Amino acid sequence: MNISGNTVLITGGSAGIGLAIAKLLVENDNQVIVTGRDPERLARVARELPQLTTVVCDVTRKREVDLLVQQLQKDFPRFNMLINNAGRAYAYRLSACAGAFEKAADEILTNYLAVMGITESLLPQLTSKAEAAIVNVSSIVALAPSAKTPTYAASKAALHSYTQSLRITLAPQPNIQVFELMPPLVNTDFSMEIGGSKGIPPEEVAQCLLKALAANQQEIHVGLTANIYKLLQSSPESALMAMNAGN
Ligand SMILES: NC(=O)c1ccc[n+]([C@@H]2O[C@H](COP(=O)([O-])OP(=O)(O)OC[C@H]3O[C@@H](n4cnc5c(N)ncnc54)[C@H](OP(=O)(O)O)[C@@H]3O)[C@@H](O)[C@H]2O)c1
Repeated sequence: MNISGNTVLITGGSAGIGLAIAKLLVENDNQVIVTGRDPERLARVARELPQLTTVVCDVTRKREVDLLVQQLQKDFPRFNMLINNAGRAYAYRLSACAGAFEKAADEILTNYLAVMGITESLLPQLTSKAEAAIVNVSSIVALAPSAKTPTYAASKAALHSYTQSLRITLAPQPNIQVFELMPPLVNTDFSMEIGGSKGIPPEEVAQCLLKALAANQQEIHVGLTANIYKLLQSSPESALMAMNAGN
């Protein structure tokens, strides 16, 4: 698909991977709208990159999502790419008093249910365009879990499954493609608790995404994710062990 001339919404685009993607898309002559919950963070990003449009919107709040959908329809009639990037993770061990239910509820809401809600609301706008795309940002842990983030991994596995079903469902409409970006550990605020400083830079993830969009490569195994994917084909047990080495 074209990687220039699009009008792109990135949820959670005021930091990390979302911001790196936003910057690269702007450099490639796309119109980009980013969302986040913290207005000050968004204002800082807008000062740094005045070409961006910023919108305060928590993807887990239906009223805020409804307003965003209306704003896109009114102010961005050329909107043709949705990047579901906002995510939530808890690093903890499953145990008798870990509070897994509450943590998982939060992760499932942000990483899975909110993606479904926003995608469903924006489908009419997307499918009416000559060329459109949905990009869901899942993770290497959607393929094989790391026990350091047990319920986060499960939420990303759910997102992976949903993304596959959505791709199959939309296949008869060749004007819209469904991509899944599967990064390994990335050096962002998000991953600090799980050794994220050893991860790849978010700019590398953004470069991989644009290359894959241009090549219509729908499932995008960034860096180490490609190794885990290959290992899974030959030995799922080894892939699980590799994801949990040193645990
Ligand atoms: N970092 C990694 O190692 C890694 C690896 C694989 C996959 N991923 C995935 O990549 C995505 C981005 O992660 P990241 O590392 O870039 O995180 P990050 O640096 O923490 O940035 C997250 C962004 O999302 C926004 N956000 C968080 N919750 C939101 C919500 N409910 N509604 C709207 N915006 C929200 C944040 O702004 P506010 O806080 O102001 O809302 C921020 O702009 C996530 O889906 C994550 O699961 C990350």
